[in-house]
Amino acid sequence: MKNINVKTSKPYEVRVGKGLLENIAREISDLKKPEKCMIISDDIVFSLYGERVKKSLTEAGYTVYEAVFPHGEESKNMETALSLLTACFEAGLTRSDFIIALGGGIVGDVCGFVSSIYLRGIDFIQIPTTLLAAIDSSVGGKTGVNTDYGKNLIGAFHQPVRVLCDTDTFNTLPYDIYTAGICEALKYGVIRDGDLFYAIGNGDIEDIVCRCVQIKADIVENDEFDHGERQLLNFGHTLGHSIEALSNFEISHGHAVGLGMLIMTRACENRGLCEKGISNEIEKALKSFEIDTDISYTAKELASFAMSDKKRKGNKITLVIPEKMGKCVLHTISTDNLEEFISL
Ligand SMILES: NC(=O)c1ccc[n+]([C@@H]2O[C@H](COP(=O)([O-])OP(=O)(O)OC[C@H]3O[C@@H](n4cnc5c(N)ncnc54)[C@H](O)[C@@H]3O)[C@@H](O)[C@H]2O)c1
Ligand SMILES: [Zn+2]
Repeated sequence: MKNINVKTSKPYEVRVGKGLLENIAREISDLKKPEKCMIISDDIVFSLYGERVKKSLTEAGYTVYEAVFPHGEESKNMETALSLLTACFEAGLTRSDFIIALGGGIVGDVCGFVSSIYLRGIDFIQIPTTLLAAIDSSVGGKTGVNTDYGKNLIGAFHQPVRVLCDTDTFNTLPYDIYTAGICEALKYGVIRDGDLFYAIGNGDIEDIVCRCVQIKADIVENDEFDHGERQLLNFGHTLGHSIEALSNFEISHGHAVGLGMLIMTRACENRGLCEKGISNEIEKALKSFEIDTDISYTAKELASFAMSDKKRKGNKITLVIPEKMGKCVLHTISTDNLEEFISL
């Protein structure tokens, strides 16, 4: 098992290893006395791992409750959050008790949001079960739900008290969900660590997760509340969000980000802003994970969706520009110029 310390306003440890789920109680015994806890999960993850987590905690003397909602992005909304808050009230959870988010990024985001507002904030532990959640959403404290006006528009910054990533859980992931996480891992490689980029697909997954989490931790520690450097983590995301929306969410977030990175890198190479050949490396990596890299949307379509991005400030948008493998910079342009910028 490996540990990474995240030194945010409220510091916490990320533990990454095989088989952690077998003894969750041991992994939190230094943090939480045997009190009440609420496991929040989705139906798929709970059916795979819920009983295992429950058993470990119950045997250690915790009083365990569960609240399970249907999987999928459609559940990431205020109705689900309200039903989870109700479950916490019904269980009588107090501020010394805690919540466990067992699942992918959707469970983590909704559960984190509920934890941030229940009794004005209660401790929560992230147990990510997708690669994407392990390397991205479970660390950094961004929580939230979607609205009819867009994704993640209601939320809060609320750091978990611990993150426990059992890499064995990736064994049950469908391949396309696994490769969605791979795209976010490739993102870390392009923004901060060229060696990591080339290790993805060859290296040990536990090591890849730790290197990604360390990069996220380093960036978040410098800019917890997203005013500057943290925007580097949005590489591929402005166009990725457009691709997700234009495909009616048939292209997953992770794959859309992979394509967003590719378009942005090609545009930057054409403008002489990026070393030549990086877009080919990204395309090769995506293809090696069987990700379709044919993009059927025009620059106009991609740019018009990007206008609704919440990262937009007035009529300016901050792009993440790769200069070379392992180094990205921020570059602000007028939203009016985005279409031209990405036109090849
Ligand atoms: N908070 C952040 O900083 C942040 C960062 C990135 C993404 N996100 C959010 O994360 C969400 C996407 O997360 P995701 O890709 O993990 O999606 P997800 O939570 O929907 O999980 C994908 C699917 O995999 C299933 N699943 C999860 N773990 C499994 C396992 N071990 N075995 C088998 N099936 C399993 C789930 O039931 C679900 O159907 C989006 O809503 C996105 O906005 C948040
Ligand atoms: Zn993402």
